[in-house]
Amino acid sequence: VIRTITALRQEIQVLRANHAGGSGETVVGLVPTMGYLHQGHASLMKAARQQSSIVVLSIFVNPIQFGPNEDFDSYPRDEARDVETARNEGVDIVFIPSVDEMYPQPTQTTVSVSRITERLCGASRPGHFDGVTTVVSKLFNIVQPQKAFFGMKDAQQVAVIEQMVNDLNVPVEIVACPIVREDDGLALSSRNVYLSAELRKEALVLSQALRAVQEAVEAGTAVTAADVRRLLREYIGKSAQAVIDYAEIQAFPSLEPLQDLDELHVFDDLLIALAVKFGKTRLIDNIRIEHM
Ligand code: PAJ
Repeated sequence: VIRTITALRQEIQVLRANHAGGSGETVVGLVPTMGYLHQGHASLMKAARQQSSIVVLSIFVNPIQFGPNEDFDSYPRDEARDVETARNEGVDIVFIPSVDEMYPQPTQTTVSVSRITERLCGASRPGHFDGVTTVVSKLFNIVQPQKAFFGMKDAQQVAVIEQMVNDLNVPVEIVACPIVREDDGLALSSRNVYLSAELRKEALVLSQALRAVQEAVEAGTAVTAADVRRLLREYIGKSAQAVIDYAEIQAFPSLEPLQDLDELHVFDDLLIALAVKFGKTRLIDNIRIEHM
């Protein structure tokens, strides 16, 4: 466990030097997280362990990606358990900086991706993606990884970071890992702990709606974007508590929106994405449908 940038850089240098004698290139793999780790995060650590010589996990609840009325202060934390999880997954270094370590003075530089941040979560959470791309850029510069691992749970985040890496020629390969779900379909999220037993049950409409859409698309009963939007609203409407933020279909990874009359088969990959509030808890989920 390392808490300062200086100590982290030194330790990576030592591990790199130890590794240099071995065969092949030394690959540093970074898994950025905000902690309160679950099996979704663990799947990223497993992928990183398989594909890298040195695995760095970062745990940092990044204040600049939270809006003023969001859950920064109440975001769940359990450092001891997280370190144990990281140890079990064979992580080499857990980097846990303080807010002061990451932002010692008011910052005057923001990394900001335009266009694809304007829709979906970017529309509902102004400034959120600037906070994400800024902190991820800092982590890339601090750790200098060859590979970085992200979950498709946050599909727009993956698309935004890939855009940033391409636009700025950042020398890192982004590895996107599949969504990990509970047995009943609910996508794992650190925020699931906010749900009461009742809302936890209601939240199943998200994965059910996505599965229904996938089946309808495969069966040819949903042909246009309007069909998909209608089905999503129908399924999510089955929960009396669900308040839809968005239920959308777009091309992936460009995130270009589809018009109602657009037929799905002309697009490459599609992303069906949901953000729905259950009480105070906003949950996101999505499914990627590959070119038909
Ligand atoms: P956090 O929400 O902690 O998520 C860390 C990583 O775990 C993200 O790449 C996310 O997509 C992935 N993840 C979360 N739930 C998952 C699931 N059920 N299946 C697969 N992967 C899952 O995303 C962030 O933190 C932050 O925005 C961060 C990138 C760390 C920048 O602060």
